Amino acid sequence: MDPVKMGLLGLGTVGGGTVEVLRRNAEEIARRAGRGIAITRASARDIQRQRPFDTSGIVLTRDPFEVVDDPELAIVVELIGGESPARELVLRAIDNGKHVVTANKALIAKHGNEIFAAAQERGVMVAFEAAVAGGIPIIKAIREGLAANRIQWLAGIINGTGNFILTEMRDRGAPFDEVLAEAQRLGYAEADPTFDVEGIDAAHKLTILAAIAFGIPLQFDKVYTEGITRIAPEDVDYAAQLGYRIKHLGIAKRTAAGVEMRVHPTLIPHRRLIANVDGVMNAVLVNGDAVGPTLYYGAGAGAEPTASAVVADIVDVVRTLTSDPENRVPHLAFQPDALSDLPILPMDEVETAYYLRMTAEDRPGVLAEVTRILGDERISIEAILQKEPPAPGEDATIILLTHRVREANMNRALAAITALPSIRGEIQRIRLETLES
Ligand code: NDP
Ligand code: HSE
Repeated sequence: MDPVKMGLLGLGTVGGGTVEVLRRNAEEIARRAGRGIAITRASARDIQRQRPFDTSGIVLTRDPFEVVDDPELAIVVELIGGESPARELVLRAIDNGKHVVTANKALIAKHGNEIFAAAQERGVMVAFEAAVAGGIPIIKAIREGLAANRIQWLAGIINGTGNFILTEMRDRGAPFDEVLAEAQRLGYAEADPTFDVEGIDAAHKLTILAAIAFGIPLQFDKVYTEGITRIAPEDVDYAAQLGYRIKHLGIAKRTAAGVEMRVHPTLIPHRRLIANVDGVMNAVLVNGDAVGPTLYYGAGAGAEPTASAVVADIVDVVRTLTSDPENRVPHLAFQPDALSDLPILPMDEVETAYYLRMTAEDRPGVLAEVTRILGDERISIEAILQKEPPAPGEDATIILLTHRVREANMNRALAAITALPSIRGEIQRIRLETLES
């Protein structure tokens, strides 16, 4: 049988990894897919540039629309990134009856509802395993492996760049900007790295995970998003003294009142496996009612780990080329007419425990004022750590861990504490999760 012909949009980090993996493992991949797979066309902005991989046999073009309009191609792989022109290209490929594979989480999180509807209508597949957690097959695990379960919550380290930065800062005391530059050099970071460090990339991925876990539409605009830029080295140290690690987590949880979707730095007990996931590695903890907690771990970014997920999707598409579109695995795990409209909870209604760090005047009664305000908001304290002032007469540092409380109560308490004359500057607040099943 002739090989399946495929077009590639983008020859950057992931595009290059995909070309390399498909070439190197061509024989085994063909044995798995049942057909050979040939990249016959590809696009990039600069087609003169020497690439660090072999593009022989691939017709290169600057115009990606030439690729999606090529009648010879059965599959288009979108590895450009961003919303435009990726959205227009993917919709045109679908309209042309081509199956699509993409690693683009921004595209799926923001335009996935429209794209999947178009694909459903046209009877083609849009596969996006590489869009979440790099090389970890987490989409397949949730959509297929855990299909028996009612998923209660999931929590993941889902941005490799952010985890790499936090790890290097903790282990080597390396400055933030230096580690970010290294992540860019290694091909981990997004084209705009603020997406990594401000939590936007993780929010894209969490949107996708929540949709396939709970059977709800993609709702990126409802994710509460906080990045890693405000974590100070002393917070990492104090958290360690109290038995915790700080990780940047995406959390999606089903509660009686609705679904929580949030991305923020989080204290996790250091004994949890996920607290020990370091560097560019990602991990996703999924709690299903039948299976209990399950943990998925692997490289969250980088050329070949991401290509591993892209190529797995290509193999899946090739295997199902002749299957009845109605009987394929649904894009968002649940049948399109069976998605539910569970409400997404506003952050004020979310309940978590907290780590608080504040600088206070070193005099009797200050701690009592702080604890009175917390008590008035029914916030109970789990632990207190008070650091002596560096010199007599200087300010002291107070660190508090609280029990779980609604975010709205904590916001009111923090406003009242900040207004105390004895409290200096802003209070650092980091949410804390024990991640018990
Ligand atoms: P790169 O920036 O390395 O590559 C992008 C490619 O697209 C380049 O070949 C570039 O051309 C081409 N390109 C960029 N803009 C345009 C445009 N406007 N029109 C046509 N072509 C364009 O990105 P990555 O490979 O890192 O990322 C690709 C996708 O994969 C993104 O969606 C990203 O989020 C996702 N992803 C990335 C991971 C990673 O580890 N890097 C991991 C998981 C997902 P040229 O080469 O000429 O500049
Ligand atoms: N920039 C992303 C990250 C790439 O660092 O996780 C993988 O999605």
